[in-house]
Amino acid sequence: MPEELGTVISTEETPTTCEFVFLVKNRRVRKGQFVQAQADDGLLLGMVTEITRANRYFERAESVAEYERASPISEHFPTADWEFTVAQVRIFGTFKGKILVRNTFPPAPGLRVVEADLPLLKEFLKFHDDGLEIGKLENHDLPAKLDMDGLFQKHLAILAMSGSGKSYLMCVLLEELLSRKPEQGRLAAVIIDNHGEYAGFKQSEFGQQTRVFEGKKMRISLRKVSPQMLAEWMPQMSGVQLRELAKILKEMQKAANEKHEAFGLSDLSLRIEASEMKDNIKGPLLAWISELRGLGLLGKADFPKADEAVSPGRLAVFDLSDIDSLRKKQIIVSYFGKKFFRMRKKGAIPPFVLIVEEAHNFAREKAMAEAAISKHIIETIAREGRKFGASLCLISQRPVQLSTTALSQCNTNIILRVTNPYDIKHIGESCEGIDSAMLNSITTLRVGEALIVGEAVGCPVFVKVRAKRSRATTKGASLSSLARQFEEQSAKKKNDVEAFL
Ligand SMILES: Nc1ncnc2c1ncn2[C@@H]1O[C@H](COP(=O)(O)OP(=O)(O)O)[C@@H](O)[C@H]1O
Ligand SMILES: [Mg+2]
Repeated sequence: MPEELGTVISTEETPTTCEFVFLVKNRRVRKGQFVQAQADDGLLLGMVTEITRANRYFERAESVAEYERASPISEHFPTADWEFTVAQVRIFGTFKGKILVRNTFPPAPGLRVVEADLPLLKEFLKFHDDGLEIGKLENHDLPAKLDMDGLFQKHLAILAMSGSGKSYLMCVLLEELLSRKPEQGRLAAVIIDNHGEYAGFKQSEFGQQTRVFEGKKMRISLRKVSPQMLAEWMPQMSGVQLRELAKILKEMQKAANEKHEAFGLSDLSLRIEASEMKDNIKGPLLAWISELRGLGLLGKADFPKADEAVSPGRLAVFDLSDIDSLRKKQIIVSYFGKKFFRMRKKGAIPPFVLIVEEAHNFAREKAMAEAAISKHIIETIAREGRKFGASLCLISQRPVQLSTTALSQCNTNIILRVTNPYDIKHIGESCEGIDSAMLNSITTLRVGEALIVGEAVGCPVFVKVRAKRSRATTKGASLSSLARQFEEQSAKKKNDVEAFL
């Protein structure tokens, strides 16, 4: 028998079809706890939304002040006997057999309220035995195992201020993805890692399944670059310049494809120099080519190749921490994003999830053309990806700056601690199913506590994110340990020099 928590009471406004209040008889009752009560129509399921304590003896400030002048009021009266606690419950519905239907008749005052049965709760919250275990449901002894399809198919956004545990949660999700067996269906994961936080997966037990690609070694094959891409990468290029460049590039690509040969930017500039173009076009074009060369990105072949990066049950880390230029990072995301999406549509690569850390830098709501290079592909995958098995996971501490087109397509949101009122307001507006009480709770979340809303769960739930099982996050060292490291290294260098002399 489940433990009794209390008894439904009759107040001026409740019970109604949506709400009831119960007298708390058990100190285990908590805000956010799921409860049930057996009504005539079926089993009611609800959640405690608020708890209030009251005591007659302490209602009037002047009497309390008067009595307490001499000694505590509890010495004069049996105050403890008059204390009571009531809990408000929001009703989700009534179970008719296994199906939860809208509740259409109020529960009777006097009903016994008990904690919700775990199997029932699991079903209601859409937790799944085969799911991704991200932690534990708050207030209940129930692992939060989210269904992979529910979480990723219609895209996921992880939003919170920095330091609240977004990357940590992503590591947990990756561990779960990488632990799946082929018969459970395995996604390929590609992560855009701006701070080199995920390279640690290489040293973990998932090392075999992980490949880390350093940003400075990544390459885009000039043979595969289209004029539209050039226009996107260099929006200031004039129409005439672009036309001339496209003409030459196409000729060279055609010849290269016929001869199965590659060519580089130096071949392209030689060709432009030798052409009969007018000098007032040739000059600027050569300047553009030299700017492109400065990025150090275009080469004779793509690196990584699509099948090296996107493979079932494996993780590819695009470690962009060694690149300073945002433009270069955006070009990488745009080029590879487009390529993977195109190949996925043809079925040439497996279903994948593209995870973008610092997503507001790659799909900014209000961006100038030169800073909006990767926004287009992110919005495209957000809109069309789910039909083709191309998912997106956007991680950001600046939801206000994130493309609303992309964010509104993320059907599941995981929200960790946020305190900035603008961000909270924005999250409230962009996330369906969040009420103002939940918004308020977001400010009080501690590191590692998360609110999950949307497709992946039956109703918004608070979850305590579990501890990581592997080692990852290598670059998040504390200030003091960095300082210690620096001094140790300097001392060592000095010793070495002295030994040498
Ligand atoms: N669920 C958790 N359990 C234990 N420690 C956590 C948890 N989530 C975050 N942390 C710790 O909090 C710090 C910040 O987390 P991080 O994921 O880097 O934040 P963010 O990516 O949001 O900036 C890290 O030191 C991390 O180890
Ligand atoms: Mg982070």
